[in-house]
Order: sequence, then structure tokens, then C-alpha cells
Amino acid sequence: MHFTRMSSYDTAEVPVIVRGDGAYVWDAHGRKYLDALGGLFVSQLGHGRTDLAEAAAKQAAQLAFFPLWSYAHPTAIELAAKLASHAPGDLNRVFFTSGGGEAVESAWKLAKNYFKLVGKPMKHKVISRAIAYHGTTHGALSITGLPGLKAPFEPLVPSTFRVPNTNIYRAPAFLEGADGTVDPEVFGRWAADQIAVAIENEGPETVAAVFLEPVQNAGGCFPPPPGYFQRVREICDQYDVLLVSDEVICAYGRLGYMFGAERYGYQPDIITSAKGITSGYAPLGAMIASDRVYEPFAHGTETFLHGYTFGGHPVSTAVALKNFEIFEEEKVLEGVRENEDAFRGTLAKLLDLPIVGDVRGDGFFYGIELVKDKATKETFDEDESERLLRGFLSKALYDAGLYCRADDRGDPVIQLSPPLICGQEHFDEMEQKLRAVLTEAAGLL
Ligand SMILES: Cc1ncc(COP(=O)(O)O)c(C=O)c1O
Repeated sequence: MHFTRMSSYDTAEVPVIVRGDGAYVWDAHGRKYLDALGGLFVSQLGHGRTDLAEAAAKQAAQLAFFPLWSYAHPTAIELAAKLASHAPGDLNRVFFTSGGGEAVESAWKLAKNYFKLVGKPMKHKVISRAIAYHGTTHGALSITGLPGLKAPFEPLVPSTFRVPNTNIYRAPAFLEGADGTVDPEVFGRWAADQIAVAIENEGPETVAAVFLEPVQNAGGCFPPPPGYFQRVREICDQYDVLLVSDEVICAYGRLGYMFGAERYGYQPDIITSAKGITSGYAPLGAMIASDRVYEPFAHGTETFLHGYTFGGHPVSTAVALKNFEIFEEEKVLEGVRENEDAFRGTLAKLLDLPIVGDVRGDGFFYGIELVKDKATKETFDEDESERLLRGFLSKALYDAGLYCRADDRGDPVIQLSPPLICGQEHFDEMEQKLRAVLTEAAGLL
């Protein structure tokens, strides 16, 4: 299985999920779970929607497959136009993939190819952030900032470099003011400036792109501090480096907007996206590039020598169109924006537990950081983390009827990314189940 310790199932039973309806799924034994992770940051509209299933069936009957290699089909054309109309500024050029990692891979290749065409052939390196996850293919894994995930596959693609992420909860002590707190704007400026430092260190003539998520997932939801992305944009302009907004999780309503860049008011050169684009009813990814990045390919014999058989699959693009039609009819984005304060407020109640150090995120996307000592923010050592997360929490939450993710790729966190159709009753259920399990967990330490 994917990212799974196979030996954990030597004795235990693999959870088999057989059915879904709304925000809930059921296993093979008929037990019900609140899907507080949207499958895997995917199920924006929830499970069991026959309208999306019918859109897929209708398209499969009409034209199940045709590639986008020098040909096109109507749903890919329509979806590309729709994405371009929503994407910020001049992001008008859409390249479909089968998923997120392929979109990231495509964006790096496009950035390299673009700079070769505009006479800056040395520009090929990528800057990304510590602990960030960008996918598993060689290029995307190389951009990923999680050494433990990369080690088994070294050597990876060379030329990628890490800068600090925006985890203000663990901001460096030298940024603290006289009162011992860190001003978010000072922190944001510092974190963004580290990108300039990295570009200078590598040589601006060699750096092609910076890959950043609007809210970084791995490590447990790090929203951008105020001014962060505006400063990053300035730095990218100064050094002629492309800003790639990796929105594989953050696009399509997760943060209450079609794109995270829209929420935080910045202009990327490329957006990478996938997951929620179809609410999971079919696999699809999309890279959306600016007119400027597209321009050198518009002439003569130039060709972007890159593609995927299933990129922009007719069934997937038909489902995505239906997904966005429902977004509009059911005012899904507005719903997230209206409910996000209630979601935040309900989760923040957990801060009264000694094991809960921080609750952070935006929209319907939250991380809860667990700590050993709240006053000092001391985290767990490897053994404790293993016992707490793998030995207890993942199973206990699941047994309690809550599907979410206990993750220790950075400091130990619980990740929540529920379907966008959730409301107060779901928020309360999450809080109550988390409270019961985390209280028990604290007692085990
Ligand atoms: C930010 C980000 N980029 C890329 C990926 C890779 O996407 P996929 O698993 O569809 O290849 C993910 C997956 O979780 C992601 O969160």
C-alpha cells in the first residue's frame, strides 16, 4: 500500500472503506466515520453524489478517451477556459495532468524550458521550503523538503534548495520582541527574505523557480504571515524567478476561494493543482501558467515536449465541470467563508487541553500541534512520537469514528481537511471526538 508500514497489518486488519454519503464513510463492517480529511484533501463536495457520478457516466458513454496530444475534446476545452477565467491575473494557459505530483513535475520542466527559450539557459534550480511536501516523482520529491521521505531514493534530481517555512509557532528566538512574542509581519518579512538569501547564495542566474503552498500542509498548516507573499513576489520580480503556487490542496474551495493566491492577494506565475478539482470523483490535475510563460512556446517550431496519456481525461474534465457547476449552484465557496470562523472557534476550544500546543489554519484546513509541555512548547522525542501517533492516536481516532491524520513529518500534528459541505454539527463532532481521544492520549504520557 502507499506510504504504509506493511508489517502493521501482520496482525491488525486493513480498514476497508466501502461506501460514502456526505461527510461520512462506512467500512466493511458497517461502522460509520466522519471523514475529517476529505479522503486525502480531496472530497470537497463529500461522498455519494449521484450528480457527479452521472456526469462521469454520461461522458464515458459519449467519449471515454481521447488524448490532448495535438487533439482536444470539448470538456477539456471548456474546463481550461473556466480555470483560466478564475485564475488570478494573466494565468490563462492550462496544462492538464493526472494528479498533483505530475502538475509539480510539469511546472519545474516548464520553468526550465521557458528560461532556455528566453535566453537564460542557466536558470534551472528550485527553491522550496523545509518540511513541505510536493509529491513523489523524482522531480517533485526533489522539491519536497522532507529528508526522511527522500533518503531511500537518493540521489534525486539535483538543484533544489530549502528555505524556512512560515511556522510562526516555532519562529526563531532572535525574532522575538521585548515582550517575548514574535510580530507576524516581522516574521513574514524575515521568512520571505530567506528566499532572497537562497537565490543570492545559488546565483540568481541559476535559479528558475520558487515552489510554495499558500498554506503549507506538511508540518501542520502554516498560513502565510501578513505581507509574506507580497515580499516573495517582489523578490521573484527582482531576480526574475518564477513563483509557483503549489495549490494541490489549497485550490478549489479549501480556503474559501478558487485559488489560495486569491485569498492571500498575490500573483503567481504558475499554479499547480489537483485533488479537489473533481471532488475525487475522477483523477485530474492542472498546471496553470501565465501568458508570459506561455509566450515563447507560441512561435515557430517550439513545443513543450511533455505530456501524460491520461492528462485531461474526458471523464475527469467532465466531472470537474460538474463539480464547479455545483460549487456555484450551492454557493460552496461562500459556505466555507461563512463557516470558517465557526470551524476555527470550535477547534480552538481544544486549546484548553495540556497536550494541544497550537491550532492553526484557514478556511476548512487545520493542523493541531501536539506538545509535551505547553509552556515551553517542548515536543516529543522520536520514541514518544512513535508511541503517541502510531501506537495510539491514529487507531484511537479511527476507533472513535473520526477519520483524520496524525502526522509526524514535522512536529506531531493532527490534520483536518473536511468536505466543504460540513457545518457546525460536524465541527462539534470533530471537537468532541478529538477531545476524548487527546485527553486519553495525555494520560498515557
Ligand atoms: C502540496 C502538494 N503538492 C503535490 C502533491 C502531490 O499530489 P499527488 O499525490 O496527486 O501526486 C500533494 C499531495 O498531497 C500536495 O499536498
